[in-house]
Amino acid sequence: MYQKRPGIFMADWWDANGRRHRKQFSTAQEARQHEHRETALAHGKRASRELKLARTSSTHAKTEETGTSTIAPAKGKLGVMIPGMGAVATTFVAGVEAVRKGLAAPIGSLTQMGTIRLGKRTEGRSPKIKEFVPLAGLNDLVFTGWDIFEDDMYAAARNAGVLERDLLDNVKDRLSSIKPLKAVFDHNYVKKIDGPNVKKGKNRLDLAEQLRQDIRDFRKSSGADRLITIWCASTESFIEPTAAHQSVKSLEKAMKENDESIAPSMVYAYASLMEGVPFANGAPNLTLDIPAMIELANEREIPICGKDFKTGQTLMKTVLAPAFKARLLGLSGWYSTNILGNRDGEVLDDPGSFKTKEESKLGALEHILQPSLYPELYGNIFHKVRINYYPPRGDNKEGWDNIDIFGWLGYPMQIKVDFLCRDSILAAPIVLDLVLFLDLAQRTPELRRLGIQEWLSFYFKSPMTAPGLYPEHDLFIQLMKLKNTLRHLKGAELITHLGLEYYD
Ligand SMILES: NC(=O)c1ccc[n+]([C@@H]2O[C@H](COP(=O)([O-])OP(=O)(O)OC[C@H]3O[C@@H](n4cnc5c(N)ncnc54)[C@H](O)[C@@H]3O)[C@@H](O)[C@H]2O)c1
Repeated sequence: MYQKRPGIFMADWWDANGRRHRKQFSTAQEARQHEHRETALAHGKRASRELKLARTSSTHAKTEETGTSTIAPAKGKLGVMIPGMGAVATTFVAGVEAVRKGLAAPIGSLTQMGTIRLGKRTEGRSPKIKEFVPLAGLNDLVFTGWDIFEDDMYAAARNAGVLERDLLDNVKDRLSSIKPLKAVFDHNYVKKIDGPNVKKGKNRLDLAEQLRQDIRDFRKSSGADRLITIWCASTESFIEPTAAHQSVKSLEKAMKENDESIAPSMVYAYASLMEGVPFANGAPNLTLDIPAMIELANEREIPICGKDFKTGQTLMKTVLAPAFKARLLGLSGWYSTNILGNRDGEVLDDPGSFKTKEESKLGALEHILQPSLYPELYGNIFHKVRINYYPPRGDNKEGWDNIDIFGWLGYPMQIKVDFLCRDSILAAPIVLDLVLFLDLAQRTPELRRLGIQEWLSFYFKSPMTAPGLYPEHDLFIQLMKLKNTLRHLKGAELITHLGLEYYD
């Protein structure tokens, strides 16, 4: 719901087929009620359709297990375009190159190391995911990127200081051949850094056109058959949706007028979607979470997903909180603090960028614990997240959690987690998986036409969902959703864990 003009309120919803509707009301309450009714109706329709599909795929599974005819093969090269060639991006590309050369293993990557159980527990069938669904191979990946600094990927990786020099020198040729294209940048959105490698243009629409030209040029020069864009650039200052974000038309008008509410990340996402290229958002920026981008993705049938890679502290949160809820243990407080000293930490030292990150990190607990269903357990939680820039640690973050829980008869207990993690080492396999799965989605009409790829929630701190639908944050529900989506695509039986048949 949004206010169009004083006294005019617009209900704004998507139907079960992903089409957007708007209706005008004179009060906010009427508009909100209408929107809730229509959204619930759409979810109901979608749910019963999903159920029907699930039933069909189970029946189908009994006769054959090769429903791949609807997934186009992963033929040719896959071009990966990365806004932001910093610590995460360089650790990802250097890692892929090291794995290709047999120098290291792709640890942490579900697409490379994960397996998927098929059929009953007694059948012993658990192929690797990459053998079960047709994914692009690591040798098929080609890369480009944009950055405000002129360093090539080798220099940027040395500067990030995540990987050892020996390893980087082994992949130097590939890394130093990747030079950053000029970025679309607005210092007001990332106050702590500034750089020379920036595009100039009449307005934001003109800058988007320049990015589109970069994309077309890369498609040609790399010989890539398919492309993916994944945002690995800095966290932008916190903004809320405005009227300019409400439709593709208003977005384009605002870009032409150089409206400041259009963040650089939105210019990249717009350019990517206009070129028919799926977009993943690794930062907590608003970027894709506006009606205009969802409209663009739905209309053009382009997969999108976000936001904010789920790597360290939130990963732990989405593992521990479901355990408390499962055992009906109460929670009175969760204090999370971090020290980190990489450029991301420096950017997050700015209150505007920190607020964007904070919002993204805070959401998970509320959705997992559902205080409205369990008010006596989770109705009064003090949840705090702090990030402190501390240069000596570089990319090696330390995240502390103090968790105050209570059990039987209200007796209090405490849990302390001290995670000495490596930010980019945790993020790189997520980037790889997202690239390969988004490409799978782009080759699969059934997924492509959804726009938002909720089945990839597993990888994000603030997963995107259909408008009005609350996100699943529990890591294991997210994993089940991801694997069942793959089973469904291949016409394999979904795994419900019911298991009564073992006792027949
Ligand atoms: N590493 C993690 O665990 C993790 C987890 C979740 C999210 N993230 C997010 O991923 C992003 C990348 O993290 P990082 O550690 O690599 O940061 P980084 O600072 O090392 O790299 C970001 C790069 O983006 C560039 N940049 C900034 N604005 C740009 C623009 N408009 N266009 C092109 N380039 C631009 C910067 O110059 C920098 O080189 C950050 O937004 C971070 O919050 C990281």
